[in-house]
Amino acid sequence: MTYTVAVSGASGYAGGEILRLLADHPDIEIRTVTAHSNAGQPLVDHQPHLRSLAHLTLQDTTPQILDGHDIVFLALPHGQSGQYTDALGDAPLVIDAGADHRLTSQSAWDAFYGGDFHEAWTYGVPELLVDGVKQREHLRGATRIAAPGCNASTVSLSLAPGIAAGVIDPSDIVAVLAVGPSGAGKSLKTNLLAGEILGSANPYAVGGTHRHIPEIRQALAAAIPSGLPRGADDIRISFTPVIVPMSRGILATSTAPIADGATDAQIRDAWESAYGDETFVQLLPEGHFPRTADVLGANTALIGLAIDRAANRVTVVTAVDNLVKGTAGAAVQSMNIALGLPENRALSVNGVAP
Ligand SMILES: NC(=O)c1ccc[n+]([C@@H]2O[C@H](COP(=O)([O-])OP(=O)(O)OC[C@H]3O[C@@H](n4cnc5c(N)ncnc54)[C@H](OP(=O)(O)O)[C@@H]3O)[C@@H](O)[C@H]2O)c1
Repeated sequence: MTYTVAVSGASGYAGGEILRLLADHPDIEIRTVTAHSNAGQPLVDHQPHLRSLAHLTLQDTTPQILDGHDIVFLALPHGQSGQYTDALGDAPLVIDAGADHRLTSQSAWDAFYGGDFHEAWTYGVPELLVDGVKQREHLRGATRIAAPGCNASTVSLSLAPGIAAGVIDPSDIVAVLAVGPSGAGKSLKTNLLAGEILGSANPYAVGGTHRHIPEIRQALAAAIPSGLPRGADDIRISFTPVIVPMSRGILATSTAPIADGATDAQIRDAWESAYGDETFVQLLPEGHFPRTADVLGANTALIGLAIDRAANRVTVVTAVDNLVKGTAGAAVQSMNIALGLPENRALSVNGVAP
């Protein structure tokens, strides 16, 4: 069977990356691409690397144009998806790359985003530990999927194994991330001009204000073993992203205190047993740490783990490509699972180097 697809936000970074992956997917026919201010223009004027899709023209993003496809991807600025998802009730599968359907807590939405709150959909991070199983079990047959925030899924995948195994204390997490500016989208912003970011490392959303914080707390709370208190309030995180001059990529350094009595073997085993069988989330051998260059273009999260007894903390360094594992790859992987297709279809574990 071939599934027909519409991709909205197709002139943007996330939409473009979804299209790049779907263009090589044997079960997908990309029928419709939509945009906003650039509607009416050829897709390749905005995504000149997508040569196999040169026949497509960006249409207006309306419920009528998105309707009638087997799968609809929404890759719109946050706060914009809800108006379409309400109108796409009959669509068999809708996958939102935005934040509108990620949070279960309306108060968290109000505090960090504002505007209309929409119900949470099945979270599109298949390898995440939730209630003692992997999130992929919840994705099988799902019809509404919320792809993750790129920073959020990177930190959640980094720490969920330690929280699920009870070997780290989730009430004192510190995460500092080097992030590429493509994570902020393609629209013109003065603070993202080349003159502002080349040759500089620029912190932003410092001091607990970044919008991915409630998403991380929600995901990590779900990793706390049943029987223990497991609200988002039990997850306390200091989160600081720093924009660095690389187009794509996230290098997240996340640390948390070692739980009382946890041995080195128990700590390492938590991550090994969580990810030992995974294709796209890989724990590196002891003493090895990833670089963002190693995952460029790949649907892979590479994790390095250190046990710092002097500081009594576990340090987890994780590299992802924000546009692949952080967004479009997660969306396509989740789509494959939802449809019962091989999970890795059209997704590469290998990066592009140098
Ligand atoms: N970039 C990432 O690494 C990343 C990672 C995870 C999640 N996401 C999420 O993906 C979504 C898209 O992000 P992005 O980085 O791709 O942003 P982007 O590059 O700025 O692209 C935004 C897209 O949305 C369209 N658009 C803007 N306003 C619209 C409206 N009112 N109605 C319909 N379409 C509208 C734009 O069309 P025109 O160009 O025609 O105006 C463009 O195609 C966001 O919710 C973001 O949080 C992004």
